[in-house]
Amino acid sequence: MDSSTTTSVNTAATRPPSAVVADLFGPILPALRRVEDRLQSELTSSDPLVDEVVRHGYRLGGKRLRPALVLLVGNAVGELTSAHELLGVVVEMIHTATLVHDDVLDEAQLRRHVDTVNARWGNEKSVLLGDFLFSQAFYLAATVDRDAATACQLIGRTTNRVCHGELRQTLAEGDLGLSQADYFDIIDGKTAELCACCCRLGAVYAGASSEVADAMESYGRNLGMAFQIADDLLDLTGDEATTGKTTGADLAKQKMTLPLIYTRDSLVNGPRLALEEWLKDPSSKSRAEVAKLVEAVGGFAFAQKTAIEYANRAVADLAVLEESELKHSLATLAFFASRRDA
Ligand code: IPE
Ligand code: IPE
Ligand code: MG
Ligand code: MG
Repeated sequence: MDSSTTTSVNTAATRPPSAVVADLFGPILPALRRVEDRLQSELTSSDPLVDEVVRHGYRLGGKRLRPALVLLVGNAVGELTSAHELLGVVVEMIHTATLVHDDVLDEAQLRRHVDTVNARWGNEKSVLLGDFLFSQAFYLAATVDRDAATACQLIGRTTNRVCHGELRQTLAEGDLGLSQADYFDIIDGKTAELCACCCRLGAVYAGASSEVADAMESYGRNLGMAFQIADDLLDLTGDEATTGKTTGADLAKQKMTLPLIYTRDSLVNGPRLALEEWLKDPSSKSRAEVAKLVEAVGGFAFAQKTAIEYANRAVADLAVLEESELKHSLATLAFFASRRDA
């Protein structure tokens, strides 16, 4: 890590993580606003009932991390073009589609500070809204004005891997023996893959060499791993008023996340059996009681440390870029991903 990056990370540590992110998007804000406008104009219907459901898909935003990655990387590597903005719209639609479907799987009630689509309209409408968003995203990707085949291939393969990751995770629900290696594989597919794709798209559409495009993809993947580990910490420790989404869903669905895997592997005999009994019957112990044990064993500290290691790897991937304010923003963003509060 160079000294300028260290300064930025230290500065970030003194402020709430969510406040840091707003600053980081500064250089790309006009482009990000155009992405927002396009999202809103794409996600409409002439039928008022459908319109309400479709608009719910982007209500109150979300962090817009994925379009920001396309734009920040594109700008750090070269010139931003209209292709970057369109691709930002596409990746945000795909991300939102996965969230709408994920909330059905997790039976979640809250997303982006409002009711989930399934809570308000039920699972059938959620499945169809997710499909609407996926198909609109693929249609738009095919209209990108430069080398649409590259965008379609990257986005198609990535979406397939994300769905594969979600499928694997769903099949692993209730598998209290899930290994760390399998956990990392699952989060690589369901979350890191899309972040990696966003960064590769940003680089490729700014004319990057294959060396730089590979490094940016790796940056996005490492950032995405940090992001999901932090998310799994928030599921056990975060509060819904800040995260804006249902917490405790991983426990309710018996999903083994990193803090729980570490805790399980640190315990033997009776205490381990007791933990497994709690996990098998999520109604037997509150989230706070499980969190107390995880804290005592060091499960949160281990997961936090692991997330920061991934963030450091992401920062190391930036070595191929010239020094710039944008490179700095990307480094700070990786740090944010590992320690975020929402
Ligand atoms: C939530 O993603 C799903 C995960 C991969 C953890 P975000 O936390 O980026 O959700 P929004 O887009 O800001 O709502
Ligand atoms: C899902 O992970 C990530 C996706 C690919 C949709 P989570 O289930 O942990 O995401 P949240 O916590 O619901 O946002
Ligand atoms: Mg979920
Ligand atoms: Mg989660």
